[in-house]
Amino acid sequence: MWYWTLLALLAVSISVAASLNSRPKSWTYTLKETSSHSSNESIVKADTRIERIGRAEFALSGSLFIGVQVPEDLEVEVLAYRSPDGGDNYKLQPYSLQRQGIYAAMNSFYKDMIMDSVASCSNLPQFTEKLTVLPAQTFHYDKCQISTDSFPQYLPDGWYKLNFVTYGIVEVVWELIIIIEKKSL
Ligand SMILES: *[C@@H]1O[C@H](CO)[C@@H](O)[C@H](O)[C@H]1NC(C)=O
Repeated sequence: MWYWTLLALLAVSISVAASLNSRPKSWTYTLKETSSHSSNESIVKADTRIERIGRAEFALSGSLFIGVQVPEDLEVEVLAYRSPDGGDNYKLQPYSLQRQGIYAAMNSFYKDMIMDSVASCSNLPQFTEKLTVLPAQTFHYDKCQISTDSFPQYLPDGWYKLNFVTYGIVEVVWELIIIIEKKSL
């Protein structure tokens, strides 16, 4: 009868694993490339790289130097492009963040999608109320993995290029290329 016990244990562990992620994704991601460019490195200088942290796992490390208190009229936009052909042709996707003030983006997009993922691997801002001032400082992030909990359950596979862009006293382009693949079951 030992195998019934084994099966029961297996069933319990599978249901525990399933309940840990109540909205299972149909996809997995791999970080492929990252780069950044700033129009004035005395205002913003970013350094970004991908590090391998396991057999098939990757994480993001880098730093973000901000030389001035971030002005309210700095605007930010996130553009998402998808390539179905391994990075040869990219097309702009609808899942992007509309151009908006940096503080509005920090209080919505950053707070909802990124803040939790970077809590334990960086000194990027953590706040519960509203962020109103970002003083001059240097942020560091070390082997951060982005939690996909708040991402769509389904994403078409392909290469995705995400561009975080600023407009105003400094133009920064921070780029991340991610490969989305169907989860093999
Ligand atoms: C970069 O920004 C600094 C500080 O605002 C300014 O003094 C400098 O002229 C800028 N450099 C360029 C190339 O725009």
